[in-house]
Amino acid sequence: MSSNPEIPEVPVDQNADDSKQPAPPAGGINTPLPRPVDRTAVEYLPPALSVLEQNIHSAKTPGEKFFPSFAVTEGLEEKANERIAQYPDDQKRSAVLPLLHEVQHRFGYISPESIDWVSDKLDIEPIKVVEVVTFYPGFRQKAPGKLHIRVCRTLSCAMGGSYELMDKLCEIARIDRNASDPHKDPIAVSPCGNYSVEFAECLASCGTAPVCLVNDDFHEDVTFDKAKELLNSYQNA
Ligand code: FES
Repeated sequence: MSSNPEIPEVPVDQNADDSKQPAPPAGGINTPLPRPVDRTAVEYLPPALSVLEQNIHSAKTPGEKFFPSFAVTEGLEEKANERIAQYPDDQKRSAVLPLLHEVQHRFGYISPESIDWVSDKLDIEPIKVVEVVTFYPGFRQKAPGKLHIRVCRTLSCAMGGSYELMDKLCEIARIDRNASDPHKDPIAVSPCGNYSVEFAECLASCGTAPVCLVNDDFHEDVTFDKAKELLNSYQNA
């Protein structure tokens, strides 16, 4: 009999046969049931592309003429070994970022060949290197222009006119940003190869918006009417 008069007592079925109840899943009641596999769909999947073809956007650009083609030079090999030696032998994969920076610094971008080389140096699968390259927007997968301009588009800069600045830069440098999908290919290069543009997220100087980076130089308070002045200041670069 229930001790609380508010809660009605549930009648017990004396004739119920417990053996007819469905057995709980083997791993306990929280184990998800296996999902049915659609074998027809698996059979008709298109042939898989290689990891690099699938994940690296390495189209040729007019900016290529300003950078040497990837090659394992003595200097690169020496620098890479120096970087790798900074980590314990069983953790040399940690050198992936320094090695990629070294490659980008020397050759302008991360090519599929350089990914193979980095993966060989660190004894890791190429896909592990691809994951790092595609995660960090600072790594480029195709040659930029001689002057690569990154315009901040986060809130303060957007409100300060960074989109207008980007339009003006493209107009002056004759860059068509609509020629490709900016989600897949964020860098647009001018036909002469001298300039390329890319939007960047907050460059940590929101108080002096709008801001941009030209190669490694930081510029603050670059309103769209200063775009020409900015590019002219690099005429002799
Ligand atoms: S929003 Fe542009 S620097 Fe922060």
